Amino acid sequence: MRTQVGIVGAGPAGLLLSHLLDLEGIESVVLEDRSREYVENRVRAGVLEQGTVELLTDTGLGDRLHREALVHRGLELRFDGEGHRIDLSGLTDGRTITIYGQQEVVKDLIAARLGAGGDIRFEVEDVALDGLTTDVPSIAFTHDGERHTLECAVVAGCDGFHGICRKAIPDGVLTAYDRTYPFGWLGILARVGPSSDELVYTNHERGFSLLSVRSPEVCRMYLQCEPDEDIGEWSDDRIWDELHTRTATRNGDFTLKEGPIFEKGVAALRSFVVEPMQHGRLFLAGDAAHIVPATGAKGLNLAVADVRRLSEALARFFGSGDTDLLEGYSDACLRRVWRVQHFSWWMTSMMHRFDDHDDFQRQVQRSELAYVTSSRAAATALAENYVGLPIATLEAG
Ligand code: FAD
Ligand code: DHB
Repeated sequence: MRTQVGIVGAGPAGLLLSHLLDLEGIESVVLEDRSREYVENRVRAGVLEQGTVELLTDTGLGDRLHREALVHRGLELRFDGEGHRIDLSGLTDGRTITIYGQQEVVKDLIAARLGAGGDIRFEVEDVALDGLTTDVPSIAFTHDGERHTLECAVVAGCDGFHGICRKAIPDGVLTAYDRTYPFGWLGILARVGPSSDELVYTNHERGFSLLSVRSPEVCRMYLQCEPDEDIGEWSDDRIWDELHTRTATRNGDFTLKEGPIFEKGVAALRSFVVEPMQHGRLFLAGDAAHIVPATGAKGLNLAVADVRRLSEALARFFGSGDTDLLEGYSDACLRRVWRVQHFSWWMTSMMHRFDDHDDFQRQVQRSELAYVTSSRAAATALAENYVGLPIATLEAG
């Protein structure tokens, strides 16, 4: 088997890369170890930056998104029992965020690729890379009980944090930066309309909570919990009690609506980056190269930014043989990655309860919240990062 770009992983990064390459007339094969049903139903992120929505729209993926997604122009930070609106659009020349579940983006991408005759192999096993520093790298894998070798010109490692691509790079090549947090998020989906028109991020003495939404009938909500929290300990009643407690306002003007919970899960929070994001003919994109704590709502958007850059570099490479953009791929991506790492770490630090904080650190955190919600300059810094900084600001240089 031969193709131009062998892509490992059918998450948002791998699927979007395959789609963008197809629009440039470049062939790819996507190899995924899970089933189609599994990847289409994996519940994860929900916030799309305006730049992400524009890219999806401009490349023909906007139909269902624009029919079903919810556009938000602000968000609320709640602390000491009081809400403070951050006017995202007012502070960023009208930019917005869009709420559309990651699994909906994945469904749209799979439909588009298969509709265009694209090659996605689900449920492959034992994926292994070879020849990364040659001109003909290859990917070995097992599919339907048969071993295959896919020869390509370039391999894209889009197989997430636990994938095999990053690990295929020899020891000593990569520098890893890693930070774990002493908490995780318990996330639920509930069949109930939103209790607020905009997302509510709450800092409460019992821990962070977040109210988000998926549709007029379905809400997504999160609670700060232990990083290794046993979800079995959380009955629906306990989840609602905790959400009520953490989101309550001092003047009692907020009512949290309840509905049947139909999905529960716990995710750890982590900051992680490897440099460089490439080795020979292997290019890492998305969670395979970096993880951000979810508080900034950036993981999916960062994956999209990586593959946009990679597809441009590959179009140049296959079009003219010019390797300049490919060679600069990692540096260009890492400028955005580190900006987003800082923002996600900052939001996480500001919004969560830290058990090891002393009174001084608690007062500093409170002061930061008061500043961000009262100073236009500070609120603008939050807003422009949250809606997504423009490519020109981040990737030039
Ligand atoms: P992934 O979506 O992880 O896709 C990688 C794909 O590769 C997967 O389909 C995987 O099955 C496949 N794969 C792995 N190993 C192999 C292999 N050996 N061979 C073939 N295929 C393989 N971000 C937010 O902004 N907000 C959130 O609330 C949020 N919640 C999250 C919850 C969880 C549990 C996780 C793990 C992530 C969450 N994220 C969230 C982050 C966001 O979902 C990711 O940043 C995004 O999925 C990155 O896309 P990706 O395509 O790079 O990786
Ligand atoms: C959602 C997830 C996030 O991590 C976040 O910061 C905001 C919203 C969500 O799943 O809707």
